Amino acid sequence: MSVADDPGLILDPRYWGEHGFPHAAARRLRAEEPVKWFESDLVDPFWLVTKHADIVEISRDPKLWTSTERSMINMRRDNMPPMRTMLDMDPPEHTKHRKIYRDWLTPRNVRKMGARLDAISRELVDEMSTRNEGNFVDLVAAPHPLRMICELLGVGREHEATVLQIAKRAFANEDPDFEEDEDGFAKSVAFCSELLESRKKSPREDLASAIANASIDESPLAPIEAMSHVLVLVTAGHDTTASAISGGLLALIRNPGELAKLQAQPELIKTAVDEIVRYVTPTTNFLRAATEDTTLRGVPIAKGQDVCINFASANRDEEVFDAPDEFRVDRNPNPHLGFGTGTHVCIGQTLAKLEMQSLFEELVPRIRHVELAGKPRWIDAYWISSLKNLPIRYELAPSA
Ligand code: HEM
Repeated sequence: MSVADDPGLILDPRYWGEHGFPHAAARRLRAEEPVKWFESDLVDPFWLVTKHADIVEISRDPKLWTSTERSMINMRRDNMPPMRTMLDMDPPEHTKHRKIYRDWLTPRNVRKMGARLDAISRELVDEMSTRNEGNFVDLVAAPHPLRMICELLGVGREHEATVLQIAKRAFANEDPDFEEDEDGFAKSVAFCSELLESRKKSPREDLASAIANASIDESPLAPIEAMSHVLVLVTAGHDTTASAISGGLLALIRNPGELAKLQAQPELIKTAVDEIVRYVTPTTNFLRAATEDTTLRGVPIAKGQDVCINFASANRDEEVFDAPDEFRVDRNPNPHLGFGTGTHVCIGQTLAKLEMQSLFEELVPRIRHVELAGKPRWIDAYWISSLKNLPIRYELAPSA
């Protein structure tokens, strides 16, 4: 067995940190054991599911595959977090919670944010163009979605560092570079409850006010429920988009023909955005549990057992995608599962895509030269593919 296709790498944070997601291991699993029982010291056991069709089936059937038991791979059944988020709910409860901010993220409302997104893109790329070298994650990929999620929630720029800390806490807890001080969680909770209390007293035109004053079945949200909404937005809305932006630039650097194609035909940026989300797959390995004895691809699964749906593998499934390991900015159709599908399909996908489109429309035409200035480095993780260091040397044209 060659090291790179060892199925154990699917749960090896050090490997992910060094190389990114272990695609060779997932390819082998799809071919040899697409529904595989997995045990490890790191997490509770589960059936790992790697085929696109199976993941679609599971995601679209919350009656058979519940999210209420353990939705995230890093949750331990004997030490479940006190706070439940939307990701931990099934319909009809889930539907009621999702309604709270669905209006804010409809394509119509998101389009209204277009001008603001373009201004952020211009500002960050202008700043980037004053130098010729740096870590693209810090220069652009992380600040762009951070600024957007703060504006959406109505949080001022002075609190951006705190919001970033909250997002990193949830996403990078396997990585020694992101260890926080002991009272980090308490600080996150204090920040969110202060924000919600202030918006309850004096509502504004922002998403934090919508959450603070929301009710379900005519009862106001409990403080812990409201807080879970803010936390899920901050965590789901920031690192995912940052990873897609940085992973997207890395893919363009490693595929200069695709960058040239995009520069010659900027109208392809729309399909390129979906291809980036497919190719990078920022989040993977979410969980559901069987509500009754069943079978998947002929494999018996007992009631109560967990299945882990691996979106990164689904997005390279050779039965669905032609040349799945190739990065093609004009791939169309592109039925990727980078945003999930079914009940929990990403509620922020329109915003994420518009953010990426705005940024790449500003950046791509201005690139005169770009190359790696060192080795890319990902966060040590086993459910997110997130670059923490993308050192680049570049020359950008000045602002038009
Ligand atoms: C490229 C960026 C993004 C990616 C790749 C992404 C990916 C995902 C995926 C895969 C899921 C489904 C998880 C599952 O099936 O269990 C999801 C759900 C979610 N996402 Fe995103 N996301 C992105 C951006 C955003 C943004 C910008 C926001 C908010 C502004 C957001 C908010 C959410 C929320 C609240 C959920 C939970 C939905 C539910 O449980 O019903 N995401 N996202």
